[in-house]
Amino acid sequence: MLPDLTKETQFVRANTALLTAPLIPEIRLFLASEISPIWQATEEELAAKNLPPPFWAFAWAGGQALARYLLDHPAKVSGKRVLDFASGSGLQAIAAMQSGASRVEAVDIDRFAVAALCLNAKENGVKIDVALEDYIGRENAGWDLVLAGDVCYEEPMASRTITWLRMLAASGATVLLGDPSRSYLPKSGLERVISYAVKTTRELEDTDVRNAIVWQVSAEA
Ligand SMILES: C[S@@+](CC[C@H](N)C(=O)[O-])C[C@H]1O[C@@H](n2cnc3c(N)ncnc32)[C@H](O)[C@@H]1O
Repeated sequence: MLPDLTKETQFVRANTALLTAPLIPEIRLFLASEISPIWQATEEELAAKNLPPPFWAFAWAGGQALARYLLDHPAKVSGKRVLDFASGSGLQAIAAMQSGASRVEAVDIDRFAVAALCLNAKENGVKIDVALEDYIGRENAGWDLVLAGDVCYEEPMASRTITWLRMLAASGATVLLGDPSRSYLPKSGLERVISYAVKTTRELEDTDVRNAIVWQVSAEA
């Protein structure tokens, strides 16, 4: 059961616009635009209002690569039970449902992300089971496919996540990680699946394009 997220939902609506991510024109998301207040807010301003950084307001390069891969390869997801970990905007979860997954669970620990991903799922006409919880360390609850988009950007979250993803891979799940060479991407125990050039902005990534790779995470490092 989700808590009451009325305030967070209002905040998402007030601070975003319905847009598409460059690599995924078929999915509309409530995202920060260059004219939305959240784009202009500094980290200090957000901290002063006790707000976490709005990761959910952007479709990150790693997540876009993962979503593109699922949309272009529906056989990899069709009929599968899917977990989208650290879902943010929910882009990969929506792509998985649109590609024929039998069920998608999306989890994030940020109340605003959960509000945004519920709005985004509704906007795209898909049903996703959403949880506001830290799933790291949980046993495989029947997931055939586990998705993790852009999760190697800070420690200790990255190490905890990778250790757990390897445990899920050992349990028999296919685990896919979308990543544009973030600082804490593991150096081994990954198999390259596909890569995409993802258009981004200098304000967000310091560059106009990032090469994002979809990796399959192995059980062993
Ligand atoms: C860079 S964003 C990536 C969002 C999305 N997957 C994408 O690719 O666009 C990272 C997300 O991880 C979430 N997160 C961080 N720690 C988490 C945890 N322990 N469990 C679930 N989500 C977490 C953050 O709230 C944020 O939404």
